[in-house]
Amino acid sequence: MVFDKLITTYRDEINSQLLSVYNSGPISLVEPINYVLSGKGKRVRPILTLFTAESFGGTKSESMSAAVAVEILHNFTLVHDDIMDEDHIRHGKPTVHHKWDVGTAILSGDAMLSLALKMIQKSPQFNEKLMTSFIDGLQAVCEGQAYDKEFESREDVSLDEYINMIDLKTGYLIGLSAELGAISVGANDEDVVKVRNYGRLIGRAFQIQDDLLEIYSDSMNMGKSLESDLLLGKKTYLMIQAKESVPSQLNSALELAQSDFTLGLEKVRTLLIDSGIRQKAEGKIKSVIKEADLLLNELNIETEKLSFFSNLITIRGN
Ligand code: IPE
Ligand code: IPE
Ligand code: MG
Ligand code: MG
Repeated sequence: MVFDKLITTYRDEINSQLLSVYNSGPISLVEPINYVLSGKGKRVRPILTLFTAESFGGTKSESMSAAVAVEILHNFTLVHDDIMDEDHIRHGKPTVHHKWDVGTAILSGDAMLSLALKMIQKSPQFNEKLMTSFIDGLQAVCEGQAYDKEFESREDVSLDEYINMIDLKTGYLIGLSAELGAISVGANDEDVVKVRNYGRLIGRAFQIQDDLLEIYSDSMNMGKSLESDLLLGKKTYLMIQAKESVPSQLNSALELAQSDFTLGLEKVRTLLIDSGIRQKAEGKIKSVIKEADLLLNELNIETEKLSFFSNLITIRGN
């Protein structure tokens, strides 16, 4: 069964909910927050929340508040992430700190976090489990982002450390999206953990894919600036492998990128293909998704929608 149409419908509904989240208050918050919430995000996380709730036999309306809350939380992390990564484009538009200033972006992010917390409280079956999971997810993102920054100035980051970092900065939030869907409709604790682990693995694959697209896609398609990974020395799946197997060629390509980005990027692209690292990354994405899908088999739920969701992640465009 194909769920493309359903995804479009749900995305439209999430978008219209997001537009009604914050419409009165200081103009210096109302404007940037609505600027962010009206951005062209894919809404992957809230769709996962809704799909999970339905897979457990619940309804969209039972899980919509949690879905919207997780999307606000995600967008808050993007606003602060763009300051941290010095990126100027997001969703095809100037980032908040670039269009306004850093102070506006920090405060807008803070206020979005409070809006997300308020939204989760609006869940029809709000309980402590929802809030605890939400706060744990938030803490994980902060820790993942801290490692991401720490790793910029380290040359000895291992693959295990990288996986831990992306699980925290990206995987846990996608895991949380599934978890909230399940909790919202009263799933038992054991199943909540299973579906959360499914989401975390999907998130891991999603971030490795994002690392890959940052090199091989372009800013137009991705709607965001793609220079920061190379310029800031981010430790991505690809970079860690290249540092290990072709260190001197990688260093010269990265040095070139600092003075002539286009030429440096071209060198990195060729190097990663010639050394088989691109292919290895693609294989890793597939195997992590497979691992995630295996977890679905352990759940006594209707898995069709979630399987479709897993597949959707693998075909994210370049
Ligand atoms: C961007 O996430 C940050 C990462 C975890 C790679 P998305 O690619 O889901 O961002 P939007 O919301 O669709 O822009
Ligand atoms: C993704 O960070 C995780 C968070 C935003 C918390 P990245 O820095 O890798 O994502 P993009 O490339 O800016 O979207
Ligand atoms: Mg970042
Ligand atoms: Mg970034």
